[in-house]
Amino acid sequence: MSGNNRILFVGSECFPLIKTGGLADVMGALPLALESYDVDVLTLLPGFPAIKKGLKSAKKVGTLPAIAGGNVTLMKGTSSTGQEILVADAPHLFDFEGNPYLDARGEDRKDNGPRYAAFAKIAADVAQGLAFKWKADVVHAHDWQAGLTAAYLSLAKGKKPRTVFTIHNLAFQGLFPKRLLSSIGLPEHMFSQDGLEYWDKISFLKAGIVYSDVVTTVSPTYAREIQTDEGGMGLGGLLKKLNHKLHGIANGIDTETWDPFSDPALPEPYSARRVAGKKAAKKALQERFGLDPASKGPLFGVISRLTDQKGLDLVAGALPHIVGNDAQLVVLGSGDKNLEQAFMDSAKQHPGIVGTFIGYDETLAHQVQAGSDVILVPSRFEPCGLTQLCAMRYGSIPLVARVGGLADTVIDASAAALKHGQGTGIQFSPVGFDQLITALDRAMSLYQTEKTWVQIRRNGMKEDVSWAQPAAAYHSLYQ
Ligand code: ADP
Ligand code: GLC
Repeated sequence: MSGNNRILFVGSECFPLIKTGGLADVMGALPLALESYDVDVLTLLPGFPAIKKGLKSAKKVGTLPAIAGGNVTLMKGTSSTGQEILVADAPHLFDFEGNPYLDARGEDRKDNGPRYAAFAKIAADVAQGLAFKWKADVVHAHDWQAGLTAAYLSLAKGKKPRTVFTIHNLAFQGLFPKRLLSSIGLPEHMFSQDGLEYWDKISFLKAGIVYSDVVTTVSPTYAREIQTDEGGMGLGGLLKKLNHKLHGIANGIDTETWDPFSDPALPEPYSARRVAGKKAAKKALQERFGLDPASKGPLFGVISRLTDQKGLDLVAGALPHIVGNDAQLVVLGSGDKNLEQAFMDSAKQHPGIVGTFIGYDETLAHQVQAGSDVILVPSRFEPCGLTQLCAMRYGSIPLVARVGGLADTVIDASAAALKHGQGTGIQFSPVGFDQLITALDRAMSLYQTEKTWVQIRRNGMKEDVSWAQPAAAYHSLYQ
C-alpha cells in the first residue's frame, strides 16, 4: 500500500466516551497506537448521548438519508484523548442513556437487531464515500454490533474497501430472528449455512466472520480455542475451516492511562524502580474499605464484570480460605445479581477483611489495581483480558486461569521459571475450585517470601504490555 491508508474503525463503545468492558479499551487505544504508522484511522461510533457529549470540536461532515426510517448526520470531532471520532448521529436509533445493549433490568434491549444492523449499514456507506468525500481502504469492524458491515459491503458494486473483523468475545453472537432479514435490506440468499444463518437465526457475529477478508481475535491461544467444539460456541467448525484467514493478536493496554507514575487516582506515584508508593496505595485502599491494616497476608483484588465467564463464583466459594489465612479481598464489579449479593454479603459477614463495591467506577479500578497485591482473574474462558495486563503494570501479581489471552500474557512463576529469572504471575488449570485453592495457597506462600515476591513483581512491571507490538501486527495485516 502506498501513501497514507485510510482505516475505518467500527465499534459500539470507545474509552473514554462510553465503556462497558475491554472492547472500549481497545477501540480507544489501538487507533492512537497506529498513529506512528502510515495510516489514518477514523473511528465510527453510534451517536449515543454520552458519546455526543464527550466529543470536542464536533462538525457536521455528511449525511445519509433514510437509514432504518430516519436520516443520519455524520459528525466529526475528537475525544479527550485526541482520537478522531466520527459519530453517527441518528436520534431514531441511538437516543437513549445507559448500557448500549441492555435495559435497566439487564435484559437485551428490544430493538438491538435493527439498531446495530443500521449501524453496520452506516459504516458500509461511509466506507464507500457515500456520506462525504472520504473512502476507506480498510474497514476494521469489531464484535457482533459491527458484524454486518462486511455483509453490506459484500453487496456493493465497484471497488470497495478490504475488511477486517475482530472477535472480542465469541459468547456474544448477536442472534436475531430470521424475519429481520428483509427489513434490514439483506437478500434471502445470505440466510444460509455458508452465510449468516446460525441455527435458523441471523448471527451478526457469523456475518462478520464469513464476509470479512481477514478475521482476528484478541490472543493466539483464543484463536486456537475457538476452532474447537469445546471453545467454538457452535462456530468451531466454521472457524477451523476458515483458519487461513484467522489471526490471534493479543491486546495491549494504554500505558498512559494506566501508569502508576502519573495516575491521579493514586496517593503517591510509583514505578518499577521506585515502588515504595505502592504501599501507600494499599493503605488507602484498606482505609476506603475499612480493612485491617495489620493483616499479614496479601490483599486480593477483583475488577470485573460479574458473569459466568469470569469464574468469580469460584472466588466467592473460596472466601473462607482467604478469610482463614489472614488475607483480604476487595471486589469491584457488577453483573449477575446472585454474585453481586454474594460479595455484598461477604463484606457484611467479614468486616475488616472483605470490601465490596457493586457498580462501575473507573477511578476505583485504578485504585484497586494499585492497592492490591494480587489481581484474581479465574475466567472459564478469556479472549484476551486486560486486567491482568494492568495488574502487571501496577506491580500487582496476576493470578489467572490458564485459558485464552491469560495463558498468553502471564508467565507462571514456577520454580523452574524463577530459577531463570522468569515468572510474572500465577496460573492454574483446569478451571476448578480445588485448583483455585491451590493457586491461592501458592500466592499466599510466595507473598511470605519477600525476595521472590519482589522478583515476580519486578518482572511483571518490566513486561511490555503496551500497544506497540500489537499495533505493528495489525499494521502488517492491513497491508
Ligand atoms: P471484558 O471486556 O470481558 O469485561 P477485559 O479484562 O478485557 O474484560 O476488560 C475489562 C475492562 O473493564 C478493564 O478495563 C477493567 O478495568 C474494566 N472494568 C471491569 N469492571 C469494572 C468496574 N466494575 N469498574 C470499573 N472498571 C471495570
Ligand atoms: C472482550 C473479552 C476480553 C477482551 C476484550 C477486549 O470483552 O471478554 O477478554 O480483553 O474483549 O478485546
